[in-house]
Amino acid sequence: MFRILKKQALTDQIYLMNIEAPRVAHAAQPGQFIILRIDEQGERVPLTIADYNAEEGYVTIVTQTVGYSTGKLCTLNEGDSIADFAGPLGRPSELVHTDLDLLRSKKILFVAGGVGTAPVYPQVKWLHEHGIQADVIIGAKNKQALILVDAMRKVAGEVYLATDDGSEGYKGMVTGLLSELVEEQGKKYDEVIAIGPMIMMKFVCLTTLKYGQKTTVSLNTLMVDGTGMCGACRVTVGGKTRFTCVEGPEFDGHQVDFDEAMRRQGMYRTLESRKERMAQERAEGHACKVGLDL
Ligand code: NAD
Ligand code: FES
Repeated sequence: MFRILKKQALTDQIYLMNIEAPRVAHAAQPGQFIILRIDEQGERVPLTIADYNAEEGYVTIVTQTVGYSTGKLCTLNEGDSIADFAGPLGRPSELVHTDLDLLRSKKILFVAGGVGTAPVYPQVKWLHEHGIQADVIIGAKNKQALILVDAMRKVAGEVYLATDDGSEGYKGMVTGLLSELVEEQGKKYDEVIAIGPMIMMKFVCLTTLKYGQKTTVSLNTLMVDGTGMCGACRVTVGGKTRFTCVEGPEFDGHQVDFDEAMRRQGMYRTLESRKERMAQERAEGHACKVGLDL
């Protein structure tokens, strides 16, 4: 069992949790993810690692109440435990394998959308620990939905905020702010790393293509086994089928077939709600006998 050491509400729907998982914390690197199950009957929930502390033996996750399982996870409190916490899974961010002098010679911009701000944080922190200050755009629907702004300011160069309704920072989407920084403020970025909703990542890539900026995205596809066996997480990158769980989650954004990835996400949304209903029924003790195996 894996104990919840800390729970903090970041908004009324988004929670940060430190989970006691020394082995995962010891091996984790920026860009990787975990798959958890709340209990023996629960469905597998993949979450990108938001921070980790090897000395204190915990991994930080940030979760939003979007379905039955994440809703149930968010009702747990400090001292409660979850059944499974598998990881670290996936490949670490390309940054951690890149020559530090090469990284220092580049101007890097992260674009974080909504809950996607959480997986951006460990990458910016890792760069900061290696003497590199990356800039960050954080976008959200409104001021209340912006998360981790103060934490990001401690490890980033410039942090730019954008809200859809203009209640904080730039009024509009992250892509509008990105264009303003480049076209009106003359900022030059060699590399962009975008993490957030699939639609945001698609439009960030279309924007950076215009400016010739290398762009990496972290894909949050549906995942089932997380070991490359089931195929649920497959995406097309550069015309080839790739498995997000073992070959990603990061890919060259200009090569990703986002329309197909979004179609698959939409297709699975219905199946996911069926899975959630079944998980709920199982938890309530009147489980359906027909399995749903993806
Ligand atoms: P959201 O829908 O509020 O969007 C966040 C920001 O993304 C917006 O404020 C806007 O600036 C930008 N954006 C949205 N649509 C855009 C478009 N068409 N063009 C340009 N910019 C656009 O974010 P949310 O409600 O927090 O959404 C959470 C989503 O993030 C979920 O779909 C979740 O699965 C995903 N997510 C992804 C990851 C990942 O690793 N990629 C991690 C956590 C969450
Ligand atoms: Fe099953 Fe990736 S989640 S192959």
